[in-house]
Amino acid sequence: MAARYQVSGSTSAAISTSVESGIRAGTLVPGDALPAVRALAGELGVSPATVAKAYQDLRHRGLVATAGRHGTRVRPRPPVATRRAALAPPPRPGTRDLSAGHPDRRLLPPLGPHLAALAAEFGSPTGYADAAVLPELAAVARERLTADGVPAAELTVTGGALDGIERLLAAHLRPGDAVAVEDPGWANLLDLVAALGLRTVGVPVDDDGPSVAGVRAALAAGVRALVVTSRAQNPTGAAVSAERAAALRTLLAGRADLLLIEDDHAAELARVPLHPLAGATPAWAFVRSVSKPYGPDLRLAVLAGDEATVARVAGRARVGAGWVSTVLQRLVLSLWRDPATAKLVRRAADGYDRRRDGLVAALAARGVVAHGRTGINVWVPVPDETVAVTALRDAGWSVAPGSLYRIAAAPAIRLTVSSLDEPDLPALADAVARATHPVQGRAPY
Ligand SMILES: Cc1ncc(COP(=O)(O)O)c(C=O)c1O
Repeated sequence: MAARYQVSGSTSAAISTSVESGIRAGTLVPGDALPAVRALAGELGVSPATVAKAYQDLRHRGLVATAGRHGTRVRPRPPVATRRAALAPPPRPGTRDLSAGHPDRRLLPPLGPHLAALAAEFGSPTGYADAAVLPELAAVARERLTADGVPAAELTVTGGALDGIERLLAAHLRPGDAVAVEDPGWANLLDLVAALGLRTVGVPVDDDGPSVAGVRAALAAGVRALVVTSRAQNPTGAAVSAERAAALRTLLAGRADLLLIEDDHAAELARVPLHPLAGATPAWAFVRSVSKPYGPDLRLAVLAGDEATVARVAGRARVGAGWVSTVLQRLVLSLWRDPATAKLVRRAADGYDRRRDGLVAALAARGVVAHGRTGINVWVPVPDETVAVTALRDAGWSVAPGSLYRIAAAPAIRLTVSSLDEPDLPALADAVARATHPVQGRAPY
Protein backbone atom coordinates (compact mmCIF):
# COMPACT_ATOMS: atom_id res chain seq x y z
CA MET A 1 0.00 0.00 0.00
CA ALA A 2 2.67 2.52 1.08
CA ALA A 3 4.10 2.55 -2.43
CA ARG A 4 0.70 3.36 -3.94
CA TYR A 5 -0.81 5.77 -1.47
CA GLN A 6 1.03 8.34 0.57
CA VAL A 7 -0.81 9.12 3.79
CA SER A 8 -0.39 12.80 4.64
CA GLY A 9 -1.19 15.19 7.48
CA SER A 10 0.40 16.81 10.49
CA THR A 11 -2.47 16.32 12.94
CA SER A 12 -4.39 13.19 13.83
CA ALA A 13 -7.53 14.62 12.17
CA ALA A 14 -5.64 15.36 8.95
CA ILE A 15 -4.04 11.89 8.94
CA SER A 16 -7.36 10.11 9.38
CA THR A 17 -8.93 12.36 6.72
CA SER A 18 -6.09 11.42 4.36
CA VAL A 19 -6.68 7.69 4.92
CA GLU A 20 -10.42 8.17 4.43
CA SER A 21 -9.78 10.03 1.14
CA GLY A 22 -7.61 7.12 -0.02
CA ILE A 23 -10.44 4.69 0.72
CA ARG A 24 -12.98 6.95 -1.01
CA ALA A 25 -10.79 7.22 -4.09
CA GLY A 26 -10.29 3.46 -4.17
CA THR A 27 -6.52 3.87 -3.85
CA LEU A 28 -6.65 2.17 -0.48
CA VAL A 29 -8.71 -0.98 -0.85
CA PRO A 30 -10.02 -3.52 1.64
CA GLY A 31 -7.19 -5.55 3.11
CA ASP A 32 -4.51 -2.90 2.39
CA ALA A 33 -2.15 -2.40 5.30
CA LEU A 34 -1.55 1.09 6.66
CA PRO A 35 2.05 1.95 7.52
CA ALA A 36 3.23 1.02 11.00
CA VAL A 37 2.57 3.80 13.51
CA ARG A 38 6.23 4.63 14.16
CA ALA A 39 7.19 4.51 10.50
CA LEU A 40 4.41 6.88 9.47
CA ALA A 41 5.14 9.19 12.40
CA GLY A 42 8.77 9.36 11.25
CA GLU A 43 7.75 10.06 7.64
CA LEU A 44 5.29 12.79 8.59
CA GLY A 45 7.45 14.32 11.34
CA VAL A 46 4.74 13.88 13.99
CA SER A 47 4.70 11.95 17.26
CA PRO A 48 3.66 8.28 17.24
CA ALA A 49 0.79 9.29 19.56
CA THR A 50 -0.63 11.52 16.79
CA VAL A 51 -0.65 8.66 14.28
CA ALA A 52 -1.99 6.23 16.90
CA LYS A 53 -4.87 8.63 17.60
CA ALA A 54 -5.65 8.89 13.88
CA TYR A 55 -5.72 5.10 13.57
CA GLN A 56 -7.89 4.82 16.68
CA ASP A 57 -10.39 7.27 15.19
CA LEU A 58 -10.50 5.25 11.95
CA ARG A 59 -10.94 2.07 13.96
CA HIS A 60 -13.83 3.49 15.99
CA ARG A 61 -15.56 4.46 12.77
CA GLY A 62 -15.11 0.96 11.32
CA LEU A 63 -12.82 1.98 8.44
CA VAL A 64 -9.83 -0.03 9.60
CA ALA A 65 -9.12 -2.93 11.94
CA THR A 66 -6.00 -3.68 13.92
CA ALA A 67 -5.11 -7.33 14.30
CA GLY A 68 -1.94 -7.87 16.29
CA ARG A 69 1.05 -8.64 14.14
CA HIS A 70 -1.02 -8.17 10.97
CA GLY A 71 -1.04 -4.45 11.75
CA THR A 72 -3.77 -2.02 10.80
CA ARG A 73 -5.67 -2.78 7.62
CA VAL A 74 -8.63 -1.37 5.70
CA ARG A 75 -11.75 -3.32 6.70
CA PRO A 76 -13.57 -5.49 4.12
CA ARG A 77 -16.45 -3.02 3.80
CA PRO A 78 -15.51 0.33 5.33
CA PRO A 79 -18.58 2.56 5.79
CA VAL A 80 -17.44 5.07 3.16
CA ALA A 81 -18.69 4.91 -0.42
CA THR A 82 -15.85 4.52 -2.88
CA ARG A 83 -15.66 6.21 -6.23
CA ARG A 84 -14.36 2.99 -7.75
CA ALA A 85 -16.03 -0.38 -7.40
CA ALA A 86 -13.04 -1.61 -5.42
CA LEU A 87 -14.80 -3.19 -2.46
CA ALA A 88 -15.16 -6.73 -3.69
CA PRO A 89 -12.96 -7.98 -6.47
CA PRO A 90 -15.29 -9.28 -9.18
CA PRO A 91 -15.26 -13.04 -9.72
CA ARG A 92 -12.88 -14.02 -12.51
CA PRO A 93 -14.70 -13.97 -15.86
CA GLY A 94 -15.71 -17.44 -16.92
CA THR A 95 -15.93 -18.81 -13.39
CA ARG A 96 -19.16 -19.88 -11.70
CA ASP A 97 -19.77 -17.45 -8.84
CA LEU A 98 -20.52 -19.25 -5.56
CA SER A 99 -19.13 -16.40 -3.48
CA ALA A 100 -22.00 -13.97 -3.19
CA GLY A 101 -24.37 -15.43 -0.55
CA HIS A 102 -27.47 -14.27 -2.40
CA PRO A 103 -30.74 -16.16 -2.88
CA ASP A 104 -31.39 -17.60 -6.35
CA ARG A 105 -33.34 -15.02 -8.33
CA ARG A 106 -35.00 -17.84 -10.25
CA LEU A 107 -36.62 -18.96 -6.98
CA LEU A 108 -37.95 -15.58 -5.80
CA PRO A 109 -41.71 -15.16 -6.16
CA PRO A 110 -42.74 -12.77 -8.95
CA LEU A 111 -43.90 -9.39 -7.64
CA GLY A 112 -45.72 -8.24 -10.77
CA PRO A 113 -49.14 -9.77 -10.04
CA HIS A 114 -49.06 -8.44 -6.48
CA LEU A 115 -48.08 -4.94 -7.61
CA ALA A 116 -50.90 -5.03 -10.19
CA ALA A 117 -53.44 -6.12 -7.57
CA LEU A 118 -52.26 -3.40 -5.20
CA ALA A 119 -52.49 -0.79 -7.96
CA ALA A 120 -56.05 -1.85 -8.74
CA GLU A 121 -57.23 -1.49 -5.16
CA PHE A 122 -55.17 1.54 -4.12
CA GLY A 123 -57.14 4.14 -2.18
CA SER A 124 -56.23 7.67 -1.26
CA PRO A 125 -52.55 8.44 -0.63
CA THR A 126 -51.15 7.85 2.85
CA GLY A 127 -49.89 10.97 4.62
CA TYR A 128 -47.58 11.60 7.56
CA ALA A 129 -50.44 11.38 10.05
CA ASP A 130 -51.70 7.93 9.13
CA ALA A 131 -48.44 6.14 8.24
CA ALA A 132 -47.34 3.49 10.71
CA VAL A 133 -47.00 -0.25 11.02
CA LEU A 134 -50.11 -1.52 9.19
CA PRO A 135 -52.35 -3.31 11.70
CA GLU A 136 -53.11 -6.03 9.12
CA LEU A 137 -49.39 -6.67 8.58
CA ALA A 138 -48.76 -6.70 12.33
CA ALA A 139 -51.60 -9.18 12.81
CA VAL A 140 -50.25 -11.66 10.24
CA ALA A 141 -46.67 -11.27 11.54
CA ARG A 142 -47.88 -11.79 15.11
CA GLU A 143 -49.77 -14.93 14.14
CA ARG A 144 -46.72 -16.40 12.38
CA LEU A 145 -44.29 -15.54 15.17
CA THR A 146 -46.60 -16.83 17.88
CA ALA A 147 -46.99 -20.12 15.98
CA ASP A 148 -43.19 -20.41 16.15
CA GLY A 149 -43.07 -19.77 19.91
CA VAL A 150 -41.96 -16.13 19.74
CA PRO A 151 -43.93 -13.80 22.03
CA ALA A 152 -45.06 -11.09 19.63
CA ALA A 153 -47.39 -8.82 21.56
CA GLU A 154 -45.00 -5.95 20.84
CA LEU A 155 -43.62 -5.55 17.36
CA THR A 156 -42.50 -3.03 14.80
CA VAL A 157 -41.17 -3.06 11.26
CA THR A 158 -37.68 -2.11 10.04
CA GLY A 159 -35.94 -1.80 6.68
CA GLY A 160 -34.54 -5.34 6.78
CA ALA A 161 -32.80 -7.44 9.40
CA LEU A 162 -29.57 -5.50 9.43
CA ASP A 163 -31.43 -2.21 9.80
CA GLY A 164 -33.29 -3.72 12.75
CA ILE A 165 -30.05 -4.93 14.34
CA GLU A 166 -28.43 -1.52 13.80
CA ARG A 167 -31.36 0.22 15.45
CA LEU A 168 -31.28 -2.21 18.37
CA LEU A 169 -27.55 -1.83 18.95
CA ALA A 170 -27.73 1.95 18.63
CA ALA A 171 -30.64 2.12 21.07
CA HIS A 172 -29.00 0.00 23.77
CA LEU A 173 -25.23 0.34 23.46
CA ARG A 174 -22.65 3.09 23.45
CA PRO A 175 -19.48 3.28 21.32
CA GLY A 176 -16.80 1.08 22.85
CA ASP A 177 -19.31 -1.44 24.21
CA ALA A 178 -18.76 -5.09 23.29
CA VAL A 179 -21.15 -7.25 21.26
CA ALA A 180 -20.99 -11.05 21.22
CA VAL A 181 -21.22 -12.31 17.65
CA GLU A 182 -20.97 -15.76 16.17
CA ASP A 183 -17.50 -16.77 15.00
CA PRO A 184 -17.57 -17.47 12.11
CA GLY A 185 -20.45 -15.11 11.51
CA TRP A 186 -22.18 -12.89 8.99
CA ALA A 187 -19.61 -10.52 7.47
CA ASN A 188 -22.11 -7.64 7.17
CA LEU A 189 -22.81 -7.80 10.88
CA LEU A 190 -19.08 -7.64 11.66
CA ASP A 191 -18.84 -4.57 9.40
CA LEU A 192 -21.88 -2.97 11.03
CA VAL A 193 -20.59 -3.53 14.56
CA ALA A 194 -17.28 -1.95 13.56
CA ALA A 195 -19.02 0.99 11.89
CA LEU A 196 -21.01 1.66 15.08
CA GLY A 197 -17.76 1.93 17.04
CA LEU A 198 -18.59 -1.23 18.98
CA ARG A 199 -16.23 -4.11 19.73
CA THR A 200 -16.86 -7.73 18.81
CA VAL A 201 -16.33 -10.72 21.04
CA GLY A 202 -16.46 -13.92 19.01
CA VAL A 203 -18.55 -16.88 20.16
CA PRO A 204 -17.67 -20.23 18.54
CA VAL A 205 -20.51 -21.85 16.58
CA ASP A 206 -21.15 -25.51 15.85
CA ASP A 207 -24.00 -27.07 13.88
CA ASP A 208 -26.37 -26.50 16.85
CA GLY A 209 -25.68 -22.79 17.20
CA PRO A 210 -23.45 -20.67 19.44
CA SER A 211 -21.60 -22.75 22.02
CA VAL A 212 -22.70 -22.43 25.63
CA ALA A 213 -19.09 -22.10 26.80
CA GLY A 214 -18.55 -19.36 24.23
CA VAL A 215 -21.58 -17.39 25.36
CA ARG A 216 -20.54 -17.84 28.99
CA ALA A 217 -17.07 -16.49 28.19
CA ALA A 218 -18.56 -13.55 26.28
CA LEU A 219 -20.78 -12.70 29.25
CA ALA A 220 -17.75 -12.86 31.52
CA ALA A 221 -15.98 -10.47 29.11
CA GLY A 222 -18.78 -7.96 29.74
CA VAL A 223 -20.63 -7.98 26.41
CA ARG A 224 -23.71 -5.75 26.36
CA ALA A 225 -25.45 -7.57 23.49
CA LEU A 226 -25.51 -11.02 21.93
CA VAL A 227 -26.58 -11.66 18.34
CA VAL A 228 -27.68 -15.20 17.52
CA THR A 229 -28.75 -16.49 14.11
CA SER A 230 -31.71 -18.80 14.63
CA ARG A 231 -31.40 -20.82 11.43
CA ALA A 232 -29.34 -20.82 8.23
CA GLN A 233 -26.43 -19.28 10.09
CA ASN A 234 -24.18 -17.47 7.68
CA PRO A 235 -21.66 -18.93 6.84
CA THR A 236 -21.95 -22.35 8.56
CA GLY A 237 -25.63 -23.23 8.07
CA ALA A 238 -26.06 -23.90 11.80
CA ALA A 239 -29.53 -23.87 13.33
CA VAL A 240 -30.14 -23.45 17.05
CA SER A 241 -31.27 -26.89 18.27
CA ALA A 242 -33.83 -27.54 21.02
CA GLU A 243 -31.09 -28.68 23.44
CA ARG A 244 -28.85 -25.69 22.70
CA ALA A 245 -31.77 -23.28 23.03
CA ALA A 246 -32.67 -24.76 26.42
CA ALA A 247 -29.06 -24.52 27.65
CA LEU A 248 -28.68 -20.95 26.41
CA ARG A 249 -32.00 -19.90 27.94
CA THR A 250 -30.82 -21.25 31.30
CA LEU A 251 -27.49 -19.45 30.98
CA LEU A 252 -29.10 -16.16 29.94
CA ALA A 253 -32.07 -16.27 32.30
CA GLY A 254 -32.67 -12.94 33.94
CA ARG A 255 -29.50 -11.23 32.59
CA ALA A 256 -30.70 -7.65 32.81
CA ASP A 257 -27.36 -6.31 31.52
CA LEU A 258 -27.62 -7.97 28.11
CA LEU A 259 -29.61 -7.22 24.97
CA LEU A 260 -30.40 -10.53 23.26
CA ILE A 261 -30.96 -10.25 19.50
CA GLU A 262 -32.10 -13.16 17.33
CA ASP A 263 -31.84 -13.00 13.56
CA ASP A 264 -34.22 -15.38 11.79
CA HIS A 265 -33.36 -14.23 8.28
CA ALA A 266 -34.17 -17.56 6.65
CA ALA A 267 -37.77 -17.28 7.88
CA GLU A 268 -40.14 -19.31 5.69
CA LEU A 269 -37.19 -20.83 3.81
CA ALA A 270 -35.97 -22.73 6.85
CA ARG A 271 -37.22 -26.29 6.96
CA VAL A 272 -36.00 -26.98 10.49
CA PRO A 273 -38.12 -25.90 13.47
CA LEU A 274 -37.36 -22.65 15.23
CA HIS A 275 -36.10 -22.90 18.82
CA PRO A 276 -36.22 -19.31 19.94
CA LEU A 277 -34.41 -17.72 22.88
CA ALA A 278 -36.87 -14.82 22.82
CA GLY A 279 -37.86 -13.68 26.28
CA ALA A 280 -34.97 -15.39 28.10
CA THR A 281 -33.61 -11.96 29.05
CA PRO A 282 -35.60 -8.86 30.04
CA ALA A 283 -34.25 -6.98 26.98
CA TRP A 284 -34.64 -9.00 23.80
CA ALA A 285 -35.60 -8.71 20.17
CA PHE A 286 -36.39 -11.23 17.46
CA VAL A 287 -35.90 -10.03 13.89
CA ARG A 288 -37.37 -11.83 10.87
CA SER A 289 -36.53 -10.55 7.42
CA VAL A 290 -38.40 -11.09 4.17
CA SER A 291 -35.20 -10.81 2.07
CA LYS A 292 -34.38 -14.47 1.59
CA PRO A 293 -37.82 -16.00 0.87
CA TYR A 294 -39.43 -13.04 -0.95
CA GLY A 295 -36.54 -10.89 -2.23
CA PRO A 296 -33.78 -8.69 -0.77
CA ASP A 297 -35.15 -5.60 -2.55
CA LEU A 298 -38.24 -5.61 -0.35
CA ARG A 299 -36.13 -4.24 2.56
CA LEU A 300 -38.52 -5.22 5.31
CA ALA A 301 -38.18 -7.14 8.56
CA VAL A 302 -40.50 -7.64 11.49
CA LEU A 303 -38.99 -6.94 14.91
CA ALA A 304 -40.67 -8.35 18.02
CA GLY A 305 -39.33 -7.78 21.50
CA ASP A 306 -39.98 -6.67 25.03
CA GLU A 307 -42.05 -3.52 25.33
CA ALA A 308 -39.18 -1.17 26.21
CA THR A 309 -36.92 -2.42 23.42
CA VAL A 310 -39.61 -2.23 20.73
CA ALA A 311 -40.62 1.23 21.96
CA ARG A 312 -37.02 2.44 21.72
CA VAL A 313 -36.61 1.18 18.17
CA ALA A 314 -40.02 2.43 16.98
CA GLY A 315 -39.67 5.76 18.81
CA ARG A 316 -36.20 6.43 17.44
CA ALA A 317 -37.39 5.60 13.92
CA ARG A 318 -40.24 8.08 14.37
CA VAL A 319 -37.82 10.97 14.91
CA GLY A 320 -35.69 9.82 11.95
CA ALA A 321 -36.72 7.87 8.87
CA GLY A 322 -40.30 7.75 10.20
CA TRP A 323 -41.65 4.41 9.06
CA VAL A 324 -41.27 1.66 6.47
CA SER A 325 -43.39 2.69 3.49
CA THR A 326 -46.92 1.36 3.73
CA VAL A 327 -46.68 0.62 -0.01
CA LEU A 328 -43.97 -1.89 0.80
CA GLN A 329 -45.86 -3.22 3.80
CA ARG A 330 -48.93 -3.84 1.60
CA LEU A 331 -46.80 -5.67 -0.93
CA VAL A 332 -45.33 -7.96 1.76
CA LEU A 333 -48.77 -8.58 3.19
CA SER A 334 -50.06 -9.53 -0.25
CA LEU A 335 -47.16 -12.00 -0.66
CA TRP A 336 -47.73 -13.49 2.80
CA ARG A 337 -51.44 -14.00 2.16
CA ASP A 338 -51.07 -15.60 -1.27
CA PRO A 339 -51.21 -19.43 -1.26
CA ALA A 340 -49.46 -19.61 -4.66
CA THR A 341 -46.54 -17.60 -3.25
CA ALA A 342 -46.38 -19.87 -0.20
CA LYS A 343 -46.11 -22.81 -2.59
CA LEU A 344 -43.26 -21.14 -4.50
CA VAL A 345 -41.41 -20.43 -1.25
CA ARG A 346 -41.78 -24.06 -0.19
CA ARG A 347 -40.48 -25.15 -3.58
CA ALA A 348 -37.52 -22.78 -3.22
CA ALA A 349 -36.79 -24.16 0.25
CA ASP A 350 -36.81 -27.69 -1.17
CA GLY A 351 -34.51 -26.61 -4.00
CA TYR A 352 -31.98 -25.05 -1.61
CA ASP A 353 -32.12 -28.09 0.69
CA ARG A 354 -31.47 -30.45 -2.21
CA ARG A 355 -28.50 -28.44 -3.50
CA ARG A 356 -26.99 -27.94 -0.06
CA ASP A 357 -27.53 -31.50 1.20
CA GLY A 358 -26.42 -32.82 -2.19
CA LEU A 359 -23.17 -30.86 -2.03
CA VAL A 360 -22.45 -31.84 1.59
CA ALA A 361 -23.08 -35.51 0.70
CA ALA A 362 -20.96 -35.32 -2.46
CA LEU A 363 -18.13 -33.79 -0.42
CA ALA A 364 -18.49 -36.44 2.32
CA ALA A 365 -18.23 -39.13 -0.36
CA ARG A 366 -14.87 -37.59 -1.30
CA GLY A 367 -13.66 -37.43 2.30
CA VAL A 368 -14.28 -33.69 2.72
CA VAL A 369 -15.99 -32.58 5.92
CA ALA A 370 -18.43 -29.73 5.31
CA HIS A 371 -21.07 -27.90 7.34
CA GLY A 372 -24.50 -26.86 6.09
CA ARG A 373 -27.52 -27.98 8.05
CA THR A 374 -29.80 -25.20 6.80
CA GLY A 375 -29.79 -22.27 4.39
CA ILE A 376 -27.88 -21.53 1.24
CA ASN A 377 -24.25 -21.82 2.33
CA VAL A 378 -21.81 -24.67 2.81
CA TRP A 379 -18.76 -24.07 5.01
CA VAL A 380 -15.71 -26.19 4.28
CA PRO A 381 -12.76 -26.11 6.70
CA VAL A 382 -9.49 -25.95 4.74
CA PRO A 383 -5.83 -25.94 5.72
CA ASP A 384 -5.14 -22.74 3.75
CA GLU A 385 -7.83 -20.39 2.43
CA THR A 386 -5.72 -18.71 -0.23
CA VAL A 387 -4.59 -22.04 -1.66
CA ALA A 388 -8.16 -23.39 -1.71
CA VAL A 389 -9.72 -20.23 -3.19
CA THR A 390 -7.04 -20.01 -5.87
CA ALA A 391 -7.21 -23.69 -6.80
CA LEU A 392 -10.99 -23.51 -7.09
CA ARG A 393 -10.80 -20.34 -9.16
CA ASP A 394 -8.39 -22.07 -11.52
CA ALA A 395 -10.88 -24.94 -11.74
CA GLY A 396 -13.66 -22.47 -12.69
CA TRP A 397 -15.39 -21.81 -9.34
CA SER A 398 -15.33 -18.52 -7.38
CA VAL A 399 -15.82 -19.09 -3.66
CA ALA A 400 -15.53 -16.80 -0.63
CA PRO A 401 -12.51 -16.97 1.66
CA GLY A 402 -13.53 -17.68 5.24
CA SER A 403 -11.43 -14.74 6.46
CA LEU A 404 -14.37 -12.43 5.67
CA TYR A 405 -16.45 -14.21 8.33
CA ARG A 406 -13.93 -15.26 10.96
CA ILE A 407 -12.53 -13.67 14.09
CA ALA A 408 -10.60 -16.55 15.69
CA ALA A 409 -12.31 -19.51 13.98
CA ALA A 410 -10.23 -21.89 11.88
CA PRO A 411 -9.70 -21.28 8.13
CA ALA A 412 -12.46 -22.36 5.75
CA ILE A 413 -14.18 -21.42 2.52
CA ARG A 414 -17.84 -20.57 1.97
CA LEU A 415 -19.77 -21.89 -1.01
CA THR A 416 -23.21 -20.49 -1.73
CA VAL A 417 -25.34 -23.18 -3.33
CA SER A 418 -28.18 -20.98 -4.57
CA SER A 419 -27.04 -20.74 -8.20
CA LEU A 420 -26.07 -24.42 -8.46
CA ASP A 421 -28.00 -27.03 -10.33
CA GLU A 422 -27.88 -30.64 -9.17
CA PRO A 423 -25.88 -31.83 -12.21
CA ASP A 424 -23.11 -29.38 -11.15
CA LEU A 425 -22.50 -31.11 -7.84
CA PRO A 426 -20.11 -33.98 -8.77
CA ALA A 427 -17.73 -31.69 -10.68
CA LEU A 428 -17.80 -29.07 -7.91
CA ALA A 429 -17.23 -31.68 -5.20
CA ASP A 430 -14.29 -33.08 -7.18
CA ALA A 431 -12.78 -29.61 -7.49
CA VAL A 432 -13.28 -28.85 -3.77
CA ALA A 433 -11.72 -32.19 -2.83
CA ARG A 434 -8.67 -31.44 -4.99
CA ALA A 435 -8.42 -27.87 -3.66
CA THR A 436 -8.72 -28.81 -0.01
CA HIS A 437 -6.73 -32.04 0.01
CA PRO A 438 -4.07 -31.16 -2.51
CA VAL A 439 -1.90 -34.15 -1.74
CA GLN A 440 -4.55 -36.86 -1.94
CA GLY A 441 -6.31 -35.10 -4.82
CA ARG A 442 -3.01 -34.61 -6.70
CA ALA A 443 -3.64 -30.94 -7.39
CA PRO A 444 -1.00 -29.44 -9.65
CA TYR A 445 0.89 -27.52 -6.92
C1 LIG B 1 -27.35 -13.84 8.88
C2 LIG B 1 -28.13 -12.93 7.98
N1 LIG B 1 -29.06 -12.13 8.50
C3 LIG B 1 -29.81 -11.34 7.71
C4 LIG B 1 -29.67 -11.32 6.34
C5 LIG B 1 -30.58 -10.48 5.51
O1 LIG B 1 -30.67 -9.23 6.01
P1 LIG B 1 -31.60 -8.11 5.41
O2 LIG B 1 -32.96 -8.35 5.93
O3 LIG B 1 -30.99 -6.85 5.96
O4 LIG B 1 -31.56 -8.20 3.91
C6 LIG B 1 -28.69 -12.11 5.76
C7 LIG B 1 -28.46 -12.06 4.30
O5 LIG B 1 -27.50 -12.58 3.81
C8 LIG B 1 -27.91 -12.94 6.59
O6 LIG B 1 -26.96 -13.73 6.08
